[in-house]
Amino acid sequence: MELIVVRLRADWAEDDARLDAVLRDALDGISFREASEGENLRGKRLLFALALGQYGINAAYQRMLLRLRREAELLEGCVSALVVDGAGDLYTKSTAAELALALNGAGSALLGRPLVEASGSLHNFRVQAKNLGVDLIGAYRATVRELAERLLSESFPKRAAPNLLVLHASSYHTSNTMQLWAQIHTRLGKDCTVTEIGLRNGAVSDCSGCPYTACLHFGEKGRCFYGGLMQDEVWPAVRSCDAVMLLCPNYNDALSANLTAFINRLTGLFRQTRFYDKALFAVIVSGYSGSDTVARQVISAMTMNKSFYLPPHFALIETANDPGEALSLPGIETRLNRFAAQIRSSLIP
Ligand SMILES: Cc1cc2nc3c(=O)[nH]c(=O)nc-3n(C[C@H](O)[C@H](O)[C@H](O)COP(=O)(O)O)c2cc1C
Repeated sequence: MELIVVRLRADWAEDDARLDAVLRDALDGISFREASEGENLRGKRLLFALALGQYGINAAYQRMLLRLRREAELLEGCVSALVVDGAGDLYTKSTAAELALALNGAGSALLGRPLVEASGSLHNFRVQAKNLGVDLIGAYRATVRELAERLLSESFPKRAAPNLLVLHASSYHTSNTMQLWAQIHTRLGKDCTVTEIGLRNGAVSDCSGCPYTACLHFGEKGRCFYGGLMQDEVWPAVRSCDAVMLLCPNYNDALSANLTAFINRLTGLFRQTRFYDKALFAVIVSGYSGSDTVARQVISAMTMNKSFYLPPHFALIETANDPGEALSLPGIETRLNRFAAQIRSSLIP
């Protein structure tokens, strides 16, 4: 397999200098080439590399974003990963999440932990540098190389009769998000084994932020400081599932507190294991607008931080407010059918 580097050049050459040097050294000995202008990239392994400079702006990236959002099948069959370099501490993560969502919407899957970001000072590499016994730029190079190698070698394992874990914190009677899920469930039929867990009304307390060593200590025993539903039901269900489906109403342009608590409390399990071979899906519904903000939050938290594989077109995204409105939206049947088919083709051989 060949690695294709999609190099989105910065507006000022000096912003590109560090990223160019890192890519040259990190990819030494790896079979790769740069994508050419207008090339058909379908079915390829793509490493997007961009530098944002001090102000977080890159015109080549903006042009790429336009194409990705306009052409829903531009990257069908691709698997992507990203390197985003900045001159300060800001913009790298938000740009990466924006690009990841656009790539996914254009049909590309993303690896779990698909991002290497480099802040201006490279201080975000302190832990890796210490663990690897190298300096900060050495850690930057090493993580880009590891990402490129994973991009070339990893394939998401499909299975017959996959286990789908569905997590929600809504009421079946009134929630648009839940009603959409019920329709998807019907369409999946017996192709997936479905486990649903409700996280309503404080069923999961938020992470208490234990010190790293305490979190690791509890986690190694299969426990978490607060115990409860998260430790007894949710962790085992995440361990044994092949895919997680998050049902996400937009609450104040963010995930609801209950789902956020779930993701925060997943940290203890993440300390012991990676989720590269578990897929992530979502149903995202906003009353008025802002579902892209929620989708980016889901990708940042679950794929960039917690390492879940992001299958192509990972989310059904709708806008509906009144109870029952989502199921009467124009074209909803087609979108439900397409999303169910997408889940099936992502998980089942
Ligand atoms: C606490 C709360 C905050 C909300 N914030 C927003 C918001 O910021 N933007 C928006 O478009 N809709 C917002 N909504 C509306 C929901 O997204 C909307 O009802 C949608 O149908 C999904 O929720 P449901 O699955 O419960 O029906 C909010 C709803 C609640 C209860």
